[in-house]
Amino acid sequence: MSRLVVVSNRVAPIDEGKQTAGGLAVAVLAALKKSGGIWFGWSGTVVEESQSEPTRTEAGRLTYATLDLGRRDFEEYYNGFANQTLWPLFHYRLGLVSVDRRTREGYQRVNGIFADRLAPLLRPDDMVWVHDYHLIPLGEELRNRGCGQRLGFFLHTPFPAPEVLKVLPNHADLIRELCAYDLVGFHTEVDLRCFVNYIRYEAHGEVDERSHEGGTRIRAFGRTLLACAFPISIDTANLESLAHTAARSRHAERLRESLVGRRLIIGVDRLDYSKGLPKRFEAFQQLLETYPEHANRVSFLQIAPPSREDVPEYIAIRRELSELSGRINGRFAEFDWVPIRYLNKSFGRRILAGFYRQAHIGLVTPLRDGMNLVAKEYVACQDPENPGVLVLSEFAGAALELTEALIVNPYDTEGVADALQRGLTMPLEERKERHAALMRTLRRNDITAWRESYVNALTRAPYS
Ligand code: F6P
Repeated sequence: MSRLVVVSNRVAPIDEGKQTAGGLAVAVLAALKKSGGIWFGWSGTVVEESQSEPTRTEAGRLTYATLDLGRRDFEEYYNGFANQTLWPLFHYRLGLVSVDRRTREGYQRVNGIFADRLAPLLRPDDMVWVHDYHLIPLGEELRNRGCGQRLGFFLHTPFPAPEVLKVLPNHADLIRELCAYDLVGFHTEVDLRCFVNYIRYEAHGEVDERSHEGGTRIRAFGRTLLACAFPISIDTANLESLAHTAARSRHAERLRESLVGRRLIIGVDRLDYSKGLPKRFEAFQQLLETYPEHANRVSFLQIAPPSREDVPEYIAIRRELSELSGRINGRFAEFDWVPIRYLNKSFGRRILAGFYRQAHIGLVTPLRDGMNLVAKEYVACQDPENPGVLVLSEFAGAALELTEALIVNPYDTEGVADALQRGLTMPLEERKERHAALMRTLRRNDITAWRESYVNALTRAPYS
């Protein structure tokens, strides 16, 4: 069996006892343990100069190889091009896209540093699986260093329509870099179609859409590769049983007591402008305006741990949300009821599972999202005999699979308020039917199925 080498910007904590990471880290770890391998990435530490040799830590058949990044490299690669250019661009927020040659060069430089440090660790028969928008050029950088191994890439964000991508100067370079991989994976067929359209109409490449391994074979920039949709998922069975016990945890008990019989709406998101939180708060306000019978009967708990805190747009959204939640609470609160409980902190998986299970509604309304695993986790954590209702944005990748959720347009605050009303008043039978159908989907495509389908497709590369 070939060794698997996983490369991602962040590497899951080496001490598994400290593991609070989500399904992806767990899945990748499982894959690495099965075949033996290396997990290579940034250490999470910023120092004066980027490290010249990776720090290696052995854990059974698995080797962690991590790099400290220098301040300038981190600024230009992570805060700069990854999070001020590619992130807003891939999430269709063109007004927030920064176009800056310096950060593009820094991004390329750090991908070159990753390739320099990784190439000597590779064996000829290894399979290399690169994750996410931080590392698009890594495949080509490895090829330039003579690496002929099977190289796969998976994008954890949406892939934009060609007209949007073209806002980026030298967009063709980014696509050429993607074509250096043997396998390029996206979350959904919609993302895949956007990529294929770019190849066909902008890069004038050849596209063969007869199903090859369930994907599309592409010839462009002198290479042949397979592009496929692999919708990422969760550890469904594990979450189901976790939620069952977590419902009786101390945290869950305290939450229940604090609600004194009120219904709970829950949202859990990184504090990111792509998650649509201001519109979500407005939709909740709209619910209280249009359906005043919910005053003092419903509480909205929004958990939003801060993220990418050096980036100006993230500082701005944090301020905006603090003000907005304060304004709504000031207007509607009673001496014994705060409508929005807004928390800038994170909770472990088990505690969240207990919270999800209590919530009558899971409110997931990103303006644009690659997949959104919170939507899937919320469903898996419900009590099948008395499940809550998922209200889900049509612009989350998950909406293509979770069709029995109440699907909403997150920009339409009145529409979201109506969906909340429908969820709050939905009869038990309908809730059970919708939940059972959603669970069938989540059992069929869980995180193991996702990981195996990707690794199997990469095993069969090259596709020329
Ligand atoms: O979903 C996209 C993503 O960038 C993941 O790669 C990452 O784990 C997550 O968001 C958190 O972002 P960050 O690593 O910037 O904190």
